[in-house]
Amino acid sequence: MRIVTTIADVRTAVRDAKSAGRAVSFVPTMGALHGGHASLLHRARKEGSFVVASIFVNPLQFNDPNDLAAYPRTAEADEALCKSAGVDLVWRPTAETIYPADFDTRVEPGKLAAGLEGLHRPGHFGGMATVVLKLLNVVTPDVAFFGLKDFQQFAIVRRMVRDLDVPVKIVGCPTVREEDGLAMSSRNAKLSPESRMLAAHLSRVIHAAARAMRSGERADRARDLAFSDLSSQSAIEIEYLEVVDRDSLLPVVDEPTANAVVLVAAVVGGIRLIDNVEVVPRDKDSS
Ligand code: PAJ
Repeated sequence: MRIVTTIADVRTAVRDAKSAGRAVSFVPTMGALHGGHASLLHRARKEGSFVVASIFVNPLQFNDPNDLAAYPRTAEADEALCKSAGVDLVWRPTAETIYPADFDTRVEPGKLAAGLEGLHRPGHFGGMATVVLKLLNVVTPDVAFFGLKDFQQFAIVRRMVRDLDVPVKIVGCPTVREEDGLAMSSRNAKLSPESRMLAAHLSRVIHAAARAMRSGERADRARDLAFSDLSSQSAIEIEYLEVVDRDSLLPVVDEPTANAVVLVAAVVGGIRLIDNVEVVPRDKDSS
């Protein structure tokens, strides 16, 4: 496994791999790698013959400077995880490499970025889409892997790639969870033991709502039940809990719910967590 920082080094390594006939698969990350990231890397290893991972804490997508400063940075462990997952090339750019002093262009996602996370984290998706487009332009992978854990991010990236004709296949991979159902996240390590216990409620209530809809419950009723269930935990501050269509991300009320996804964002003991579940999970990776 090679670790590089410059754009020129990435381009050379990828060009060499491609001219040797190898398919390039790519997993962009912000580091602090855990089992969720590992599942993407393993999936990438299966799909491609040259696996590239990027590790870059992207300042442009943090609307809160304190959140950026506090983001966990675990370089050595990340490299060890990449190595054991069979990554060929780790790209660890500096902020100056990605955003030189005169950098002056932004990608502006449209309607898909308007609700949910977009309402609570202004500027987040523009910053995310801008860096993802840059990373894709440098790595030029055949296929790139994103977690469905960040459902709205996945939808926005998929639309950006389609709208801007980026020649890459985007694959969405299932959410990896802890034993009690809590979706793996680099933020989980910051939960106090009590908050860690409570955090599992998020996954429990959205799974219960999805089950109810599978058995014929209306989306608005399932959502309201889940909301009051979660609200009964006074230490959980709900930011949103919505049932939306998985493609348009618009609210689903009483239409058929087969394409619906239940999404939640909440602050548990000062830590902001997000999670989601599709009412009818896709039987294979979504692309
Ligand atoms: P990061 O939070 O590091 O996540 C990198 C990838 O891992 C994302 O596609 C995310 O959805 C996926 N992931 C995180 N937790 C997961 C879990 N429990 N199960 C499955 N996949 C999971 O998302 C970002 O970084 C950034 O926004 C990025 C795309 C790198 C752009 O800066």
